[in-house]
Amino acid sequence: MIDLSYRGFALDAETALALLQWQAEMGADEPCLDAPIDRLAEAAAARPAAPAQEPPAPVAAGEGDHVQTARRMAAAADSLQALAEAMRSFDGLEIRKGARNFCLADGNPKARVMIIGEAPGEEEDNRGLPFVGRAGQLLDRMFAAIGLARDCVDAQRALYITNVLTWRPPGNRRPEPHEIAMMQPFLQRHVELIDPQLIVLMGNTPCQAALGRQGILRLRGNWTTAYDRPALPMTHPSYLLRTPLAKREAWADLLSLAARLDG
Ligand code: URA
Repeated sequence: MIDLSYRGFALDAETALALLQWQAEMGADEPCLDAPIDRLAEAAAARPAAPAQEPPAPVAAGEGDHVQTARRMAAAADSLQALAEAMRSFDGLEIRKGARNFCLADGNPKARVMIIGEAPGEEEDNRGLPFVGRAGQLLDRMFAAIGLARDCVDAQRALYITNVLTWRPPGNRRPEPHEIAMMQPFLQRHVELIDPQLIVLMGNTPCQAALGRQGILRLRGNWTTAYDRPALPMTHPSYLLRTPLAKREAWADLLSLAARLDG
């Protein structure tokens, strides 16, 4: 454990990282000082020099290869079924080995609205469908309130739902940047094949994949463009379950979506 002293308090590295992630999620993306202070470097300088080590393994190169492979496989998929087969057989993601089921999408492929979430959780992994756990049930209630449903046969009122990752990350941890980068080409092709009128980006992970940005509390409610079509970032239903007060803003976002569909 690295001890980081901050204003007289001892802060361990794990807590410091959690604080930083929390602030990034809240939209704090600028340092307040003229220049950031690298407290890890300060702590490292105070420690005796470590014995010489082997250079780190060239992980990035291998990951880059996987991204290339994903791009090639995604570009070659000329139908939803071909894309599903390509994604199922893509072996760049380690997490697939620990997952129970491949979990691609649910809803009506002709829907005007495509919702993109983060990754399957336990319930989704068991059933092979996105957003079927508690967060998914809230998602269904939220969209039902503006007359949209995943099981609607009328494309005008239907939803199509997917995630950035199609395999459950172990212990429901957040998707890592290299995992998002690998799945991004598949997600882009998925959007092209479904060709929705509007996209909803549920939380930081799809914002990272589709916009290259995070900070959902700052992004939410602001229409932007993703994959050449209007996209609305919204807070994730899991966040709304933990933070009921935020439902007021989510409702405003849903009304904005409904207005856009009606207009
Ligand atoms: N959270 C997500 O982002 N997707 C799911 O499918 C379930 C929970």
